[in-house]
Amino acid sequence: MALIGMMGSGKSTVGFWLAQSEGLRFVDLDAAIEERQGRSIQEIFQNDGEARFRDMEQSELAECLTSEQPLVVSCGGGAVLRAGNRALLRQRTWVCWLRASIETLSKRVRSGDNRPLLGEDPVADLIQISDARAALYAETAHRVIDIDGLEANQVAERIRLIRPQQTAAR
Ligand code: S3P
Repeated sequence: MALIGMMGSGKSTVGFWLAQSEGLRFVDLDAAIEERQGRSIQEIFQNDGEARFRDMEQSELAECLTSEQPLVVSCGGGAVLRAGNRALLRQRTWVCWLRASIETLSKRVRSGDNRPLLGEDPVADLIQISDARAALYAETAHRVIDIDGLEANQVAERIRLIRPQQTAAR
């Protein structure tokens, strides 16, 4: 299964919990890119630019979704920007959108927090990014969970309840 949504929506924490509790392989896409590159997302954005980062993200996503091994993938917030990624996600796995209000997101992220897309006014940036992506998240996701007010373990529990059993392997 794959978790999508804005930065700060808890994809990594929830994904980790889910994978742990179900004995599945866990891939955090950002962490996988950082490991392969031997540098932080921040450094990749700074030195190579966003487009190169998106290339890396696309190939990392394709690689983990090609595997037949059951897994939970936490995608970076911008993984839905490319149509190819959206199509691959929908075809290859069950996708859940962790939807959060700007209030929730802004409480959880700070600029400079290894989040190169947030500048001097992180709330304004979150609003702009979230507006631009809402339709893409909606188009990619099989299900949506509104995570405002929920702890990561509660979100994980809801996902367990709504996830179709036949996709458990993916
Ligand atoms: C991004 C989100 C980040 C990371 C990169 C770009 C985005 O991941 O991939 O900074 O475009 O929203 P998280 O959503 O895990 O913070």
